[in-house]
Amino acid sequence: MSATPVCRVATPDDLPALVALEALFPGDRLSRRSLAAALQRRTSHVWVVEAAPGEVLANLVCFTRRDSPWWRIYSVVVHPSGRGKGHARRLMAAVSDAALRAGAAGLRLEVREDNAAARGLYAALGFTVRGRRPGYYDDGAAAVQLQRPFVAHERLA
Ligand SMILES: CC(C)(COP(=O)(O)OP(=O)(O)OC[C@H]1O[C@@H](n2cnc3c(N)ncnc32)[C@H](O)[C@@H]1OP(=O)(O)O)[C@@H](O)C(=O)NCCC(=O)NCCS
Repeated sequence: MSATPVCRVATPDDLPALVALEALFPGDRLSRRSLAAALQRRTSHVWVVEAAPGEVLANLVCFTRRDSPWWRIYSVVVHPSGRGKGHARRLMAAVSDAALRAGAAGLRLEVREDNAAARGLYAALGFTVRGRRPGYYDDGAAAVQLQRPFVAHERLA
């Protein structure tokens, strides 16, 4: 019987798994060095979904800045074998909870305009478009800038 996947805060031991997942992006990847720094810094937050001990199949990397009330989601990736099972939703719930608890204004991110799966995910979670950046990615593709502000009742929950 397979174990139930667990969503948890990442630790430095997860670095090799994060590097392997990041390699699934065609371009604009976070380097090993950036991922290692994200696992150490108090201004970054990383979660993983683990199918079984040591078997990481999804991760989310989020950065915060002292001069901004917005938490910025930098990377969400689910291994192809684990897609369509709600893992990205669980990671997004984890970052939302943490950002709410920290008093953030909400979540922001950029997504490739042509990334239908990711845009479907963010639309389902209530993100709306706040801008567009032509030529944002290495290959010239445009980014859509999305955000989801937290509303009063979420802050009180
Ligand atoms: C985008 C991605 C993270 C989604 O992960 P996932 O675990 O498969 O997503 P979930 O199962 O949690 O799906 C949550 C919602 O996202 C949307 N969604 C997921 N896959 C989708 C697809 N292929 N097309 C359209 N909408 C999709 C749906 O609304 C879905 O809700 P539903 O299952 O109730 O219909 C995954 O496809 C992935 O890793 N892609 C490659 C990396 C990437 O592009 N990351 C985003 C960079 S900004």
